[in-house]
Amino acid sequence: MTTQETHTQSPILVFPTDFAWGAATSAYQIEGAVSEDGRGASIWDTFVRQPGRVVNGENADVAIDHYHRYRDDVALMADLGLGAYRFSVSWPRIQPDGSGAVNVKGLDFYSRLVDELLAKGIDPWVTLYHWDLPQALEDAGGWPSRDTAQRFADYAAIVHDALGDRVRNWSTVNEPWCAAFLGYASGEHAPGRREPAKAMHAAHNLLRAHGLAVQAMRAQRQDTRIGGCVNLYAISPQTGSEADVDAARRIDGLQNRFFLDALLKGAYPEDVLQDLGPMADFVRDGDMDVISVPLDMLLINYYSRFTVSGVPGGAASAAAAPTDSGSPWVGSEHVSFVNAGRPVTAMGWEIDDSGLYEILLRLAREYPRVPLVISENGAAFDDVVTEAGAVLDHERLAYIEAHLRTCHAAIEAGVPLQGYFAWSLMDNFEWAWGYGKRFGLVHVDYGTQRRVPKESALWYSGTIRRGGLNG
Ligand code: NOJ
Repeated sequence: MTTQETHTQSPILVFPTDFAWGAATSAYQIEGAVSEDGRGASIWDTFVRQPGRVVNGENADVAIDHYHRYRDDVALMADLGLGAYRFSVSWPRIQPDGSGAVNVKGLDFYSRLVDELLAKGIDPWVTLYHWDLPQALEDAGGWPSRDTAQRFADYAAIVHDALGDRVRNWSTVNEPWCAAFLGYASGEHAPGRREPAKAMHAAHNLLRAHGLAVQAMRAQRQDTRIGGCVNLYAISPQTGSEADVDAARRIDGLQNRFFLDALLKGAYPEDVLQDLGPMADFVRDGDMDVISVPLDMLLINYYSRFTVSGVPGGAASAAAAPTDSGSPWVGSEHVSFVNAGRPVTAMGWEIDDSGLYEILLRLAREYPRVPLVISENGAAFDDVVTEAGAVLDHERLAYIEAHLRTCHAAIEAGVPLQGYFAWSLMDNFEWAWGYGKRFGLVHVDYGTQRRVPKESALWYSGTIRRGGLNG
């Protein structure tokens, strides 16, 4: 390569050399093979069989067959030049009933996957819980039951013990907000319960599960890095009116501060507890110390901004649930979500990378000293496959590019951001929306299981290889 070429190909927006460039998936959304090798049933296996829960009655029995195709999928990741891959372990593969003896075949699958990744120079990032609770534990009370948190810590220790020699980066519970409030308040997600007071207990126990798991894992070894994972939204009041500003406070309180303050400050926000009134009955002595166990990093999933109003009746801008459902916003009945007029993705989610900047700067300011990683960011669009077999997904490419520019700006502003994982590596089962919403960098033909990198994947690949963005 000549000096001139080196010069012209150099990225202008260079990321730190040890920045983790990755893509993410989760077990239930991609694996399939739900009855193989001793896997037990999860709450999603049950939920998808209930009429009206998932668009078109779809399920993830086969999904994108990653359980059988993982070698090819890892080869694809290597072709794209991914530095890191975030995936989740399916708890019912490891403990089919959620407790007790280990299903060795289940554990072996992840061990083989990790070896395959390492052999290709891809850093495995393990998420221990991405929403597939063993059904037996739901039958015993689910996340509203305190005992589920202890069961999770036992399970986390099993996986950490088996893979901790090869996996350095770990996270506990993916998006506890969704697991608690979509699962137990609105009922849009498994197990589909609409019990707001129980949802608060679920949120608290998911956080306890996180803390107990970190303690159990740290007792085993200290050379792994462990983080918690939260889904954060930028929140704006529609106007400066008192009612709108208060609506923004409430939503920010339940969506963002409830989790951040518990994890990083060891206390729930007073105003949120006050709003909850008698529903704030979930904390017992010692719980907050468990939840706020020191972390090596915080993983953030970011997709959009909410604009909210305290005046009932505003148009909802967030995608409405595919089926009739309750509200996930426990204690915020008078808040409405307003369409602020930004372009939206196929989910109806407004595109706003400035929201990510806002969140990153806020975290660095209000919750200092914890390294940050974007563990999910991406967009669903209605992709079209051309006759030549290509997917020219310029909107997704632009979405990811804009958010990466934001990451770069945040790093320049001093935010300790250490990595970025696109959601998702491949099209997959988008929960209650089924297969219709495609988030992948790689297109999947659900009939043939053929994988084809979209334009966004090729662009991302080039960005990773250059270590940054063209200016
Ligand atoms: C967050 C979840 O972690 C993931 O499972 C989901 O597919 C994406 N958001 C997109 O909705």
